[in-house]
Parts: sequence; C-alpha cells; structure tokens
Amino acid sequence: MDAPDNLVTLDTLRRMAQEGKRRFAGLTAYDATFAHVLDACGVEFILVGDSLGMVVQGHANTQPVTMDDMVYHTQCVARNVQRALLISDLPYMSCCDVPMAQRNAARLVREGGAQVVKLEASQDQVEIVRALSGQGTPVCAHLGLRPQSLTRMEGIHRHGRAPDEAARLRETALALEQAGADLLLLECVVDDLGAEITGQAGIPVIGIGSGAACDGQILVLYDLLGLTEPVPRHARSFMNSGRSIADAVRAYVEAVHSGSFP
Ligand code: KIV
Repeated sequence: MDAPDNLVTLDTLRRMAQEGKRRFAGLTAYDATFAHVLDACGVEFILVGDSLGMVVQGHANTQPVTMDDMVYHTQCVARNVQRALLISDLPYMSCCDVPMAQRNAARLVREGGAQVVKLEASQDQVEIVRALSGQGTPVCAHLGLRPQSLTRMEGIHRHGRAPDEAARLRETALALEQAGADLLLLECVVDDLGAEITGQAGIPVIGIGSGAACDGQILVLYDLLGLTEPVPRHARSFMNSGRSIADAVRAYVEAVHSGSFP
C-alpha cells in the first residue's frame, strides 16, 4: 500500500516544533478500532501507553504491564494506523540495562510495529538512550511524573516547583537530548519549567499537564472521552454537547493545533 501524502514522521514533528505555528496533537490508543478513529481524525501521533495497565487491564498502577502486553497492544494499534506516528512504551523493569533495553525496544519495533519507543527516564537512563539511539532506534524520553516509579518517593505532584528539582529536570532533559533522544515528554511539570525546557530543547517536547508552551500535547484517550472519574486536573473531557467520539477527537486536535487546549 502507498504511504498517504500526509504521513507524519519525526521530521514532521521537528518541523512543526521549529516553525512554532501549530502545536501537534497525540492521544493514547490500545486497540485497532480506536487507532483507526484517532488516525482518521488527524492526531499527529498515537501512543500505546503502559497506562493500558490501568484503563484496559484494571490494575491500580502501570507496574504489572509486561513486554508481551505492550507488544500485543502495539500490534493491534499498528494494524490500523496509516498516517500518525506510532510510539510505544517500554514498561516497568523492561530496560534495566543496555542489553535488556535493546532487546525489548527491538521487540516493540520488530514485532509490534512501533516507530518510536518511549521510556521513563532519569539520569540513570542516559546511557540506555545513547545505546538505543546509536543503533538507530528513535527514542522518546519521559520526564517529570513517571508513573512506573510512583511507589517510590516521587508521588503525584507537579514536578519542578522546588529549585533543586527544577535544576535536576533541566539537566536530565539536556543530557537525554545529548544522548540522542528524538522527543521529550514532560508529565506534570510546572508550566514555567515546561516552557523553559521546551525553549531550550533542540528536539520536540510533548506535554501532559506541563503547560501550553510545549510543542505538542498528549492525553489518555479515556480522559478526553470523559470516562475517567474524576477527570484528572490536567485533562479535559471533549465529549460535551452530544458530540460523537470522532467529533470529540477532532475538537481536541483542533484545540491543540489552535492553542486553546490546554
Ligand atoms: O502511558 C501513558 O499513557 C503515558 C501518557 C500519560 C503520557 O505515558
């Protein structure tokens, strides 16, 4: 099958970030039906997030999600995406060292059909990002709130309020970019720091609950559909005024493009 004219690649996201005229929009998907709807409604990227552990599998957090789960759901989504860039998560404990990260990233790409792998990252993951990137695997590094570490000290709070935490995030973002990350994703980072990291980064920055200045935005699909009780503070349900699911997704994409969301 020929690639569609409006195929989204990492270059597309880089160009949009550099031009700064229009933010790019992403949503999570875990199955083929929603993947088709999101793709047809114009999202620039789809994330097969390990949030599937909570919203699909009903776990209390993302830690039970396995590599087999991620490969399976990435395959389901990849079969129905024609246009959007497909990112998939490396789950809890799947990239503890370089060989393990290489093996598991290769599974997401080769078996799953992912185009970019995402990993939750601190300074400890810089060498892993360098190794994956050095081998030609595109990487998205996820900073700030890292749900896989929630049982440690980090907790659910907006990250980067304290000066030492902000400095650590700035340094980590830079180190991950220098190690070859193609994208950064900031979750629940205070708006000012989100804007600062976005301004300084030479790669596109995706935000969730990290302010309006990020180059792109991502939401968990079920938050946008108003299915999460309560809807998280950083999210918005777009399922109002009797909208269909497709209309809600289009309204979200338009709101991100025009800058009216967040
Ligand atoms: O797993 C996920 O859905 C994510 C998003 C919240 C960014 O990582």
